[in-house]
Amino acid sequence: MKIGLIGCGNMARALARGWGRPVVCADPLAERARSLAEELGGEALSDNAEVAARADLVVLCHKPAQLHSVAAEVAPQARAVASILAATPLAALREAYPERPVYRFLPSLPVEVRQGAVVQAADAGAGEADAEDEAVAALFAELGTLVVLDESLVDVAMGLMSCAPAYVALVAEAQVDAGVRWGLPAAQGAQLVVQTLTGTAELLRRRGYDTLAVRREVASPGGLTARGLQALEQGGLRAAFADALAAVLGEER
Ligand SMILES: NC(=O)c1ccc[n+]([C@@H]2O[C@H](COP(=O)([O-])OP(=O)(O)OC[C@H]3O[C@@H](n4cnc5c(N)ncnc54)[C@H](OP(=O)(O)O)[C@@H]3O)[C@@H](O)[C@H]2O)c1
Repeated sequence: MKIGLIGCGNMARALARGWGRPVVCADPLAERARSLAEELGGEALSDNAEVAARADLVVLCHKPAQLHSVAAEVAPQARAVASILAATPLAALREAYPERPVYRFLPSLPVEVRQGAVVQAADAGAGEADAEDEAVAALFAELGTLVVLDESLVDVAMGLMSCAPAYVALVAEAQVDAGVRWGLPAAQGAQLVVQTLTGTAELLRRRGYDTLAVRREVASPGGLTARGLQALEQGGLRAAFADALAAVLGEER
């Protein structure tokens, strides 16, 4: 399946690196498209319409506000369209790209290393998935873990996975800084913290995502970890994550 990227910014680059195969692509900044195509062995094209004409699947990687201006160029040629645009429901995509298969995905930056969480919005209006639908879903599943969700929950999911690489980076930084305060060199602190994140993620998978089981294994009664956990709770860790999600969803706390 020939992939055509419309826009070659951060997420397009992460997707393309994750897929690791040649793409055709375009971006208002020609140099951005050229360097992506060079890296992956694909081709940078001079405009969006040409990308659409050459691709089996057009992947919209521009900003949500550009939906209609891009569709004016891309829709006449596009065979099938996958969107990663935040806050852009299937109904809006279908209106911009009528009479062809349209898919809505939400990726996260770790797709670059094929460890991303990817959400696909379930298409309530579609019939049974055909071979093309399955091939498109399989393409995105290559990038990590693909979770299909009712479209009403996609924005909530966004707060947990699309935004979260930034949160996780901040959590890691905060832990490293805590260690620095007590004399641990930042470089070694970062190695320890990041490896602990990676290893704990794998353990959680093996424990069936049972977070409490992992906490109980580490925190013996009356022990040091229990004290640390209490300090985190008192510091408002849970409330901070709840507030972060509310902020993403544009709600009052
Ligand atoms: N970053 C994430 O973690 C993330 C996660 C999930 C979903 N998304 C979605 O992914 C999309 C891209 O986000 P991003 O973070 O990669 O943004 P980005 O780095 O700004 O990339 C967007 C790219 O699209 C280009 N562009 C602008 N107008 C265009 C046009 N008419 N035709 C083709 N390309 C055009 C931009 O060029 P200029 O800079 O010159 O305008 C830029 O290179 C957004 O819709 C966002 O909602 C992002």
